[in-house]
Amino acid sequence: MTGGGDAPGLNAAICGLGRRLMEADCELIGFADGWRGLLEDETRDIESWDFQHLLVHGGTMLGSSSAYPYRDPDVQVPKVLATIERHRLDALVTIGGEGTLGAADRLFRDHQVPVVGVPKTIDNDLDATDFTFGFWSAVEVATRAMDDLRSTAESHSRVMVVECMGRHAGWITAYSGIAAGAEGILVPERAAHIEALCERLAQVRNSGRRHAIVAVAEGTQVFEGGQSLSSTQIDEWGNPIIGGVGELVAGKVRDLLGWDSRSVVLGHLQRAGKPLAFDRMFALRLGARAARLVLTKNFGRMASMQAGSIVDVPLCDAVAERKVLSPDFLDKYESFFLPMGDL
Ligand code: F6P
Repeated sequence: MTGGGDAPGLNAAICGLGRRLMEADCELIGFADGWRGLLEDETRDIESWDFQHLLVHGGTMLGSSSAYPYRDPDVQVPKVLATIERHRLDALVTIGGEGTLGAADRLFRDHQVPVVGVPKTIDNDLDATDFTFGFWSAVEVATRAMDDLRSTAESHSRVMVVECMGRHAGWITAYSGIAAGAEGILVPERAAHIEALCERLAQVRNSGRRHAIVAVAEGTQVFEGGQSLSSTQIDEWGNPIIGGVGELVAGKVRDLLGWDSRSVVLGHLQRAGKPLAFDRMFALRLGARAARLVLTKNFGRMASMQAGSIVDVPLCDAVAERKVLSPDFLDKYESFFLPMGDL
């Protein structure tokens, strides 16, 4: 099953997993839309799929959703266990991010469900793996967008503020912003003071440059005069409601600096389209590693990349803590972040 927000490479992961398991004469059952398929016992036939052609496509042939059995564990966990029992599953392979894999880890620990995990998310915020698949495809989309936006920013002598995905972690924003040479990069890991951004942009303008790119992650907290300008609204699951930070920053740049500014929200384009070749290969290899875990009955583990090699790690190591940009990383690339230091 594939759960949570989709990411380029999901089909390649299914391909790597499915081919290996079919070679070993396993019978495969796909569950529809992540945990929803297990809650409602809705399956997809996988046996007839053309794995080789599947690998190039973005999205997920199994469908995905944010269903999560631990939202209402007393009612939902027994439903998942009943589906597993009904199909007499020998293993359940969960391809997902922290929510999907977190639930898989709990089912393994609490109910000995024979789970195996594969790490996916464009946000790259899962621990115990160098990267998650989908991340580099998203970085490429964001980098190309910033590259392209330079020409219109230049024509109109504007600041273009580019809002990237990343509620809690600024990986996409930092990597694409650095790669595109953005003049300002704002990430959730470091409070963004609008005065400091304006100061930097003023320096850019004083140096003779007539345009600038600012990359901002959707979950960044923006402050003015020490006060947070970000929304304090909470959704039904207790998560802060985010969105609109790009427009907020662009408005402040216009008001405080008098520099014409526009914002662009890249949104789901970062999850859309065909995966980069890297993500296809990476996801394929992770899927194959997951198949090996199934065949050797090595459950409660996740396929992973460590120091460039495909290995496997305990699932609980991946979900214990969210992987965010480290202070060390932020310091190393200090000139790209706030506070900026000398230009
Ligand atoms: O978890 C990946 C992610 O892309 C986040 O960066 C983003 O905030 C969220 O999914 C959006 O998800 P949805 O598809 O529910 O709008």
